[in-house]
Amino acid sequence: MGKIDWFSHARFGMFIHWGIYAIPARGEWVKSVECLGDEVYDQYFREFNPVRYNPREWVRVAKEAGQKYIVITTKHHDGFCLFDSALTTYTALHTPVRKDLIREFVEACREEGLRIGFYYSLLDWHHPHYPVDEFHPQRNKETQHTESRDFSQYLTYLHGQVQELLTNYGKIDILWLDFSYGALSGEAWRATELVRMIRKLQPDILLNNRLGGDLRDENPPEYAGDFLTPEQIIPPEAVTNAKGQPIPWEACITLNNHWGYCASDKAYKSPKQIIRALVECVSKNGNLLVNVGPNAWGEFPEEAVNILKEVGRWMQKNGESIYGCGAANLPKPEWGRYTQKGNKLYAHIFEKPIGYVPLRDLAGKVRKARLLADGSEIRLLQKPWNAREYEHYLFLEIPENLWDENDTVVELELEEPLS
Ligand code: GLC
Repeated sequence: MGKIDWFSHARFGMFIHWGIYAIPARGEWVKSVECLGDEVYDQYFREFNPVRYNPREWVRVAKEAGQKYIVITTKHHDGFCLFDSALTTYTALHTPVRKDLIREFVEACREEGLRIGFYYSLLDWHHPHYPVDEFHPQRNKETQHTESRDFSQYLTYLHGQVQELLTNYGKIDILWLDFSYGALSGEAWRATELVRMIRKLQPDILLNNRLGGDLRDENPPEYAGDFLTPEQIIPPEAVTNAKGQPIPWEACITLNNHWGYCASDKAYKSPKQIIRALVECVSKNGNLLVNVGPNAWGEFPEEAVNILKEVGRWMQKNGESIYGCGAANLPKPEWGRYTQKGNKLYAHIFEKPIGYVPLRDLAGKVRKARLLADGSEIRLLQKPWNAREYEHYLFLEIPENLWDENDTVVELELEEPLS
């Protein structure tokens, strides 16, 4: 087994963006967007007390949705750490909650058998040696003291915190660094050195691609990571490298339009959209990471829980067409998408046609068809009376009342896997 195999098998994960920005509740970029000074932002630090924080509950929601791993923000761009660090007091332990929130989270994931990912921000708007650049909340202040900032001191801190995260919490499955921009990319982070430490501390860890470099290149740098992270988009086609080989990728998307909790943002996607996004990712050999932004008390928004519940009901019945599945060697059908695993081809029918569901180029290749949700037989027809001339097609006859509004999945057992 390669170290990436569990990840490609899992296909579906949860992203959690949480920090003291849950109090202003206007998203995780609030400090930068509103150019909040430390004196303003510090009140959230002094106040942070998520009394309803119960990571077991979070893990339960993820598990019920069918998600196999969770990536959580250990530190976001504002620099606030949910974990205990010897290198700063800007952590949850020094807020009224007085706890290492990451430790409890890790324990809950382990108990329930979910894989664990740590998001860690490369940007840091709290650290005195992080440059005051175009994103920095102090960018408009006259006294920025830029000249007194020493980036190498920040790098020592960054490397030290990554070391803490990968030393103090046992086995971590994913490290999700975020993000590189302009000149701050690759070796500007002392990336090769950082990656070597990461691999040494956690030989099996999967690293995302945001230190810089491009995994698609012929000879990507060592720090280019193990998978790509398209954000708020599903790539229009499967992702391949210079040699035409598929590259692992994980699309990350928000449930509404914010990563961090935003109380007024009610523009939630529907469960159907999430299910179809997941199917689309799998049909292109990718994963989907769906974000939840817990509120100031430490709870998931009710809307998020409800969406994930319905996704979970669908996954309960149809998960076989997601886990361990990937692209089928067939063009995208008119009515939906295909996923495939060995000699099982899954027809995800999004659009209910008039009459039969046409399966192009599958005549003679399918042994049987079953509704994945309950195993009922779906009749396969060749040359039905009104479509005799379509000889290289097979047709599915799906009875009324068996349709699933979200996605009707028919499992097609192939005579042999499609090459
Ligand atoms: C971006 C944003 C950030 C979010 C992340 C998720 O880089 O800065 O707020 O955490 O993407 O992909």
